[in-house]
Amino acid sequence: MPLQMEKLVSLCKRRGFLFQSSEIYGGLNGFWDYGPLGVELKRNVKEAWWRDMVTGHDDLATLPGAPVPYEMCGLDSTIIMHPQIWKCSGHYDLFHDYKVECRESKKRYRHDQVWGRWVSAKNRRAFIATQLQGEEGLAETESRALKFSNLRAKDAPQLAWESALISLTKVADFAEVLGPDAKELGTLSPPREFNLMFKTRAGALSGEEGTVFLRPETAQGIFVNFKNVLDSTRVKIPFGIAQQGKSFRNEITPRNFTFRSREFEQMEIEFFCHPGQSLAWYKYWRDRRYQWYLDLGLAGDRLRLRDHDADELSHYSCGTADIEYAFPFLPPGEFGELEGIAHRGDFDLRSHMEGKLVHENPDDKTSPLVLERDADGNPRHKGSGKDLSYFDDITRERYTPHVIEPSAGADRATLAFLCEAYREDSVPDDKGNPRERVFLKLHPRLAPVKAAVFPLVKKDGMPEVAEKIYRELKKQFNVFYDEKGAVGRRYARQDEVGTPYCITVDGQSLQDQTVTFRDRDTLRQWRVNVTDCLSELTARLQTG
Ligand code: GAP
Repeated sequence: MPLQMEKLVSLCKRRGFLFQSSEIYGGLNGFWDYGPLGVELKRNVKEAWWRDMVTGHDDLATLPGAPVPYEMCGLDSTIIMHPQIWKCSGHYDLFHDYKVECRESKKRYRHDQVWGRWVSAKNRRAFIATQLQGEEGLAETESRALKFSNLRAKDAPQLAWESALISLTKVADFAEVLGPDAKELGTLSPPREFNLMFKTRAGALSGEEGTVFLRPETAQGIFVNFKNVLDSTRVKIPFGIAQQGKSFRNEITPRNFTFRSREFEQMEIEFFCHPGQSLAWYKYWRDRRYQWYLDLGLAGDRLRLRDHDADELSHYSCGTADIEYAFPFLPPGEFGELEGIAHRGDFDLRSHMEGKLVHENPDDKTSPLVLERDADGNPRHKGSGKDLSYFDDITRERYTPHVIEPSAGADRATLAFLCEAYREDSVPDDKGNPRERVFLKLHPRLAPVKAAVFPLVKKDGMPEVAEKIYRELKKQFNVFYDEKGAVGRRYARQDEVGTPYCITVDGQSLQDQTVTFRDRDTLRQWRVNVTDCLSELTARLQTG
């Protein structure tokens, strides 16, 4: 049965994975805090990414699908950077959504997230808007249309529908729209551009001069440090620079738990390569990143790799693909983006050298990129003027590298792993009666707590043995000690937060120096010598 999102949200709050930010003051929409277990889970997601993509990467081998061996290194740039960066990257002028505002409900909506249907009843025509899609959206539009026309459910045949659910983006006359939370027609404003970057001020300068922005992506910090990395290390193309960190977007309608937040973390790689090899590298990264999610436990039927259509691509791009997950809060058959892998050509490095680039023909993404100029012919946003080209000292060729960008969200990945892990089953209790259980089938690398150690009872020397095991394991892993309550309850609490193994010291332990290991998923139990607990746990965690 598909996961009901409310159950996961409630578990996350109850067990300390995620809390609404500023909750005691009524919360702040679009911001989330990670609790004691959530912070461990998200750190494990980020560490798995950093280890697999950066520190654990083998610079010497040709990995399957890769044209040649390549190098990887990391970076941690600032959140606030020179405002010119956002002008040259295009974010200052182009990073916006369209919002519509409702005069009556005082709410704001993202233009493309409002749906609805045209209906006529009692000689009046209206577009009944809703924020729900699919079957739910249709049901809601019908019930609102009935209310709007003062009709009862049995009068539904009096409603004449003109179309299936369509997006508000297709509606021209806003005077005929009934907003998603309104009772009167025509209270929605026409769509207006809304820049998603948060503005703030650096230092005491006022006005435009002191205005700076919270970064909306970590990527630009990498581009502007490209030369620094080249000059301070011995990396040679092809190589990648990875960065993890907070990004901020003033989303109009943050929603779906952490999926669309205003403050979130990204895990981005900018991979620099020779233009002639860029297509092969694009394919490599697309497949490599997809496999990463599969390896960490996302099921193939809920995870998909979607190539953008050719007409969605800029002329400098050989491809863009999204890795998407069928999040349970989406209508059946719909997927939400986890990561985008984009072939960015030399667009970013050239922009930071020359100034803001635009398509020669603004309506044609396949037209060449040229420097954007003002009415007097001067560059509208000047670049740094620094040379960001690359000189290959073996081939003696100088060129501007092309870039492949795998750009992932740490919060979306964490949410997908949580959704995938949530399970309910029935297990026998201490007396053999069936007991409903909830467990998180998290990959051992991601599990916040790797093992829990219990003395069966709080006497007869059991706590002393258990504490000793706990201290030995604690040196290597995040383990948890618990001696309170019935052992069945203690198992249940660990299952619910995804602890892969429980280790119990019982009466037999005092006689033969063995303890019980219990597997979260299979419930299988086996005995292990007290002195072998560390090696047993290490081996189990490694094999997953
Ligand atoms: N540098 C390219 C870039 O930023 P993006 O598709 O806008 O591309 C990359 O963002 C990833 O960042 C997304 O796939 C998603 O996982 C995450 N992300 C973007 N906006 C987000 C938001 N409002 N809340 C949570 N995660 C977000």
